[in-house]
Amino acid sequence: MKHFALGAFAALGLATAAEAQQNIVVGHALSPTSHYGVGAQAFIDTLTELSGGAFTGEQAPAGQLGGERDMIEGLQIGSLDVVITSTGPLGNFVPQVYALDLPFLFRDYDHARTVLDGEIGQELLDEISKNNLVALAWSENGFRHVTNSQRAVRTPEDLAGLKLRTMENKVHMAAFEGMGAAPTPMAFPELFSALQQGVVDGQENPVTVITASKFWEVQKYVSLTGHVYSPAAVLASPVLLDGLTDEQRGWFDEAAKASAAATRAEVNRLEEAGVALLRENGMEVITDIDKAPFAALAEQASYSVYTDQYGGEMIERIKAVE
Ligand code: PAF
Repeated sequence: MKHFALGAFAALGLATAAEAQQNIVVGHALSPTSHYGVGAQAFIDTLTELSGGAFTGEQAPAGQLGGERDMIEGLQIGSLDVVITSTGPLGNFVPQVYALDLPFLFRDYDHARTVLDGEIGQELLDEISKNNLVALAWSENGFRHVTNSQRAVRTPEDLAGLKLRTMENKVHMAAFEGMGAAPTPMAFPELFSALQQGVVDGQENPVTVITASKFWEVQKYVSLTGHVYSPAAVLASPVLLDGLTDEQRGWFDEAAKASAAATRAEVNRLEEAGVALLRENGMEVITDIDKAPFAALAEQASYSVYTDQYGGEMIERIKAVE
């Protein structure tokens, strides 16, 4: 976050602009070894390599700089350089992005990645960039599943009355209300202790996050509901990016692509290995779930949050992508 003014160096005769070094802080919510941590490191390594060391970087992991909403605000005012964030709080800044948060919309990882890497993904990145943010690339969090401390959840009836932490996202909250739970929005840094103290009974997150956060210490049951795909975005501060040359800006674009690729590879790995890890650590993993009744209730309750404002066209376009 320490930005050295290149001009000041030149004026002082200490170094040419090309030789001056700028240290970039990459914020995210999870541990340095998580899928976000791997992506943040790939960003830093690629940027450092492409720039010949003119840019270096460090991670601000584990919500050190606040929850995802705080970090996005940090980008807007320039107190933070780059953030890898789920779309959880992003719709509060760019409502068009809510389309990606609709439950049971994406069929599988291939479908989600094809949509995000194509025309629709680019349109949404452009939309984000109109909001005092620079959207560099779509990265990934993963398909979300429900964990809780009370009972095995197999049907919507099993969710009844469960106090479930959701992200601060009105599409997700409407979906869980529709499925019968009592959604409680909360920033991620508060979640572990809320689960520990019984403030909430459960939460929902991808296997990547459940393992990275060791939720087995405070949760007994995980139901592989896969109720919603959770994209992540690599975002940068316009305060930083607007001052760069085209060549430097290109390095940031490449670094973001490398970051997304590294994160997706780690998601793939954890989708294979993560469930075994949950079992090894004592969680009961529920796999015999009929998703149809969850989907019917969730869609009925939440799709209008998006369609009332933007209509159904984007949803049909996403569904049509092969
Ligand atoms: O649950 C959330 O808030 C998000 O999935 C997380 C864990 C911060 C990752 O983006």
